[in-house]
Amino acid sequence: HLFLLNWTTKPFRMRKFLHIALLLSIALSAHGQKRPYVAPAEEDVRANIAQWQDLKFGMFIHWGTYSQLGVIESWTICPELTEWEYKGRPEGMTYMEYLRFYEHLKDTFNPIHFDPDKWAEAAEYAGMKYVVFTTKHHDGFNMFDTNLTDYKVTDEGCPFHSNPRSNIAKEVFNSFRAKGLKAGAYFSIADWHNNDYWWKFFSPKDRYINYDPARWPEKMTSFEDYVESQVRELTNGDYGKIDLMWLDLCEISETYEIHFPWGRIAAAAREGQPGMITVARGTHSAYENYLTSELKIPTEVWNCPWEACMPMTQSWSYNRQPKYKSTQTLLNMLVQVVSRGGNFLLNVGPDPLGILDDEVYARLRGIGDWMKVNSEGIYGTKPVAPHHVGNVYFTAKDEYVYAFYAADDGDNNIPDKIFIGDVVPQGSYVTMLGSNVRLKWKKGSDGVYVNIPESLRKIAPCDYVFCLKIKV
Ligand code: GLC
Repeated sequence: HLFLLNWTTKPFRMRKFLHIALLLSIALSAHGQKRPYVAPAEEDVRANIAQWQDLKFGMFIHWGTYSQLGVIESWTICPELTEWEYKGRPEGMTYMEYLRFYEHLKDTFNPIHFDPDKWAEAAEYAGMKYVVFTTKHHDGFNMFDTNLTDYKVTDEGCPFHSNPRSNIAKEVFNSFRAKGLKAGAYFSIADWHNNDYWWKFFSPKDRYINYDPARWPEKMTSFEDYVESQVRELTNGDYGKIDLMWLDLCEISETYEIHFPWGRIAAAAREGQPGMITVARGTHSAYENYLTSELKIPTEVWNCPWEACMPMTQSWSYNRQPKYKSTQTLLNMLVQVVSRGGNFLLNVGPDPLGILDDEVYARLRGIGDWMKVNSEGIYGTKPVAPHHVGNVYFTAKDEYVYAFYAADDGDNNIPDKIFIGDVVPQGSYVTMLGSNVRLKWKKGSDGVYVNIPESLRKIAPCDYVFCLKIKV
């Protein structure tokens, strides 16, 4: 009876409930694991997500005043006792002394070699199709010309302010757009400089706000307004076309996250950028337009839009003792991610002067050389069963299946036979991208083997990951 009453007396609420239930699509992976993906209702947002899914490969850039210390971006001021957060503070320095010292990194940030055209050129060569740049990290320092605080690169107190390219985020977006890449703004919701986030009346406790928003609701409201205003600044056209906003550390507090006005924030952004993708990470809301896998390459297909982000070294921001992943490792990651339906967002961290290590350029060149031969099996593809057999990863486009044979790390040889399981070619031969040689195949009792003649093995069309193109 109560249920009926609900139907009749609260039709609007019920309709809304049904609407939400319809939108809530639980993404099932190939192995049946549930993921909380909520598809957005707006047609233009959906269309942009679909387009973005075809791009497959992007560049992530972490850069801020913290790059001067070579510490883990922002985290050294977070009073949590985890492995990385307190590192960087000299013995004997109190927390408050360190916080003050850290905030004064603004006074010395002067990246005179900042040249985003050079970064964009290397990204384009690598085959990257979008960039995500840290406009503001958790420390609250703005790498753009916000009007809402002087804790920014364009403030008089920051030596770089007099440089003609001081509005760093704007310059980055312009340079990458000029090379045909889409522009994404990383923006941290947590803001450890804002007095309505870490209220200076108390000391900060952890990554979350340090007051009870139920008791001091006006502080929370003021913080929400701040976020909305900054998002408006970044999306009102001054920074050109922004294709996506990557909103990090959205939790606010362990319990408050669900109340944060994501709808309002997204609406503000989309006023200036219709249909823009919002990635309110971890909110499981219709504003988390794709899911993210941080530092991990998922081992299975995710049947929803998603992205794996991965630093080239062991940290997101500039590191003084970097351990670079090899080009081969990065290519293996790329094909694994794409075969599982995701995009790969590969991170680099410029140094305090704005320079990217030579190792970064070498890897981007290596990936680019590989992409020149193999990108056909990457862009615009979809995952396809059996997804992978051993170290052969599959993608599909039109009437073709692409089988990427990923040699083991350190090995750069093509074997004389590549096993592609139950992918049965619809023709007498298959080819390898970058070569015209017709490859014979045979069906054995366990599946299909493609024969690679010695002539091809000797002069391989590329390095590390070799792609068979199979008509099916
Ligand atoms: C985490 C970290 C942050 C980093 C991000 C990149 O959220 O808190 O420092 O920017 O991962 O994915």
